[in-house]
Amino acid sequence: MGRVALVTGGTRGIGEAICLMLQKEGYTVVANYGGNEEKARAFSERTGIPTYKFDVGSLSACEEAVEKIQADVGPIEVLVNNAGITRDGTMHKMSYEQWYDVVRTNLGSCFYVTRCLINGMRERGFGRIVNIGSINGQAGQYGQVNYAAAKSGIHGFTKALAQECAAKGITVNAIAPGYVATDMVRAVPENVLEKIVAKIPVGRLGEADDIARGVLFLVADDAGFVTGSTLSINGGQHMY
Ligand code: CAA
Repeated sequence: MGRVALVTGGTRGIGEAICLMLQKEGYTVVANYGGNEEKARAFSERTGIPTYKFDVGSLSACEEAVEKIQADVGPIEVLVNNAGITRDGTMHKMSYEQWYDVVRTNLGSCFYVTRCLINGMRERGFGRIVNIGSINGQAGQYGQVNYAAAKSGIHGFTKALAQECAAKGITVNAIAPGYVATDMVRAVPENVLEKIVAKIPVGRLGEADDIARGVLFLVADDAGFVTGSTLSINGGQHMY
């Protein structure tokens, strides 16, 4: 049995592609999801990957779920903090809920889920953590102070944790995807998205597999010298 990998937000979009690629490579994959029961059921039936519904933005929910997952499948050695939401809107119209939901779900979740797993990884002397940031955390984005702040936070979180973990056999890296053809990006107003795509030198939106390939590289057993890095996969849109 391959190493156990937990992918948060793993039943759709980029998370789904990550799950499938890890599974193909021989990992024992489990996927978290937050709400969409129908998609999760279809995903599980199609892939055989077990799914666990819990709110990654709640520490107590994460503690309970992680305990159950590890009892079911064994110690989690690979963690992909992928779950994320958007609640776009300009600052002068943004509600507290729009701000807090995004920060709690996108950034808080990295602390909550990782906190539940870090001691086990330290004890075993092995771990691979990949946090999914965003081009919009690097460059900012009109209408996304909440999302950009949370994603930018993920990049800081990654570098600090990488330093703490380096001597313990645990690597911590981030991927900063650009605009990838998922439901999240398709929800961007068409006229806005057209302008964004026009600025991507490669000339197209990314595919979820473009991101999953990066994850596969970073979690490999022999990638132990890669830590604290951010891999930008954005079609050349932002060279950071
Ligand atoms: N730069 C400069 N001005 C902009 C702009 C931009 N990028 N986008 C909109 N504006 C301007 C508009 O031209 C308009 O100007 P006027 O008042 O002079 O006409 C003004 O801002 C208001 O625009 P809207 O009518 O669109 O305002 P709104 O309040 O209805 O919506 C918005 C604002 C919610 C931000 C909307 O523009 C939007 O959804 N933008 C997309 C944001 C985006 O890219 N989100 C990414 C989601 S995908 C993702 O996040 C994944 C990832 O990691 C990459």
